Amino acid sequence: MTDDFQAVLDEVMTAVLPVVGQGRVANYIPALAAVDPSRFGMALATLDGQVFGVGDWRTPFSVQSISKVFALALTLARDGDALWRRVGKEPSGNPFNSLVQLEYEQGVPRNPFINAGALVVTDRLLSLTGDSRGLLREFLREESGNASVDFDPVVAASEAEHGHRNSALAHFMASYGNIENPVPRVLEHYFWQCSLRMSCADLARACGFLARHGQGASGRRLLTRSQAKQVNAVMLTCGTYDAAGEFAYRVGLPCKSGVGGGIIAVIPNRCGLCVWSPGLDAHGNSVAGVEALDRFTTLTGLSVF
Ligand code: DON
Repeated sequence: MTDDFQAVLDEVMTAVLPVVGQGRVANYIPALAAVDPSRFGMALATLDGQVFGVGDWRTPFSVQSISKVFALALTLARDGDALWRRVGKEPSGNPFNSLVQLEYEQGVPRNPFINAGALVVTDRLLSLTGDSRGLLREFLREESGNASVDFDPVVAASEAEHGHRNSALAHFMASYGNIENPVPRVLEHYFWQCSLRMSCADLARACGFLARHGQGASGRRLLTRSQAKQVNAVMLTCGTYDAAGEFAYRVGLPCKSGVGGGIIAVIPNRCGLCVWSPGLDAHGNSVAGVEALDRFTTLTGLSVF
């Protein structure tokens, strides 16, 4: 067990370099297909504000589904348990954009991290605040300490243009009465949220509130201790889709992945972590990212178990 985080990150990067570039860059959102698959970065932000990093840890990338964690936190903070009447908290065992389960379960998505569940969360946040994406950007600027965090309009437009599946999911849920706002408005906010660009350093800092049991970077309480536990628990069981069991086994931390190749991880009481490498496995998780987190927890002994 070691606490020399810079040395650990250096060692992790050396170990994973052979798999960087493996996997496939997401191409169902054409603007993401242009990303260089040989990139790799990793950052760790301690709760007292130190940030360590290796490789491309300062390079912004498309956060994609990682945004779902922060949207969930913002919604829980305002809506509390009422949200759980509209979305479940069970692992889906299905791909993140699957339609099949929704019909069996009458328009109530399994969890807030599959696309259908995230669309419900965005819909609820829109109803509660009138501006889901604006609130999310503000929150991430504050928690990352980086006022230049912003959307990528090209990625948002590309996803909207090729968004038939998300559109189908949202309309299908609307047919069960589980979407409150006009579907095009919900989709627009969701696509813009996914298009946010942040670096590993930004994201490692931004997930710190989950390691601080709900307390934000400035000391302000964002979630109750119990809500922070809930978000971490849903990340552990659902954050990496139908690979969540494998992740818990190999990494042993609450994690959330995105098809931009990023993965955030939370070590309660210690730090926020983020790794980025664009090559994805069949589940939509970064190949080198999974390997790096596995190595990190093995080297340091830091996991929730
Ligand atoms: O809605 C989508 O398909 C993308 N904007 C986000 C999917 C994603 O990141 C899944 N994560 N691995």
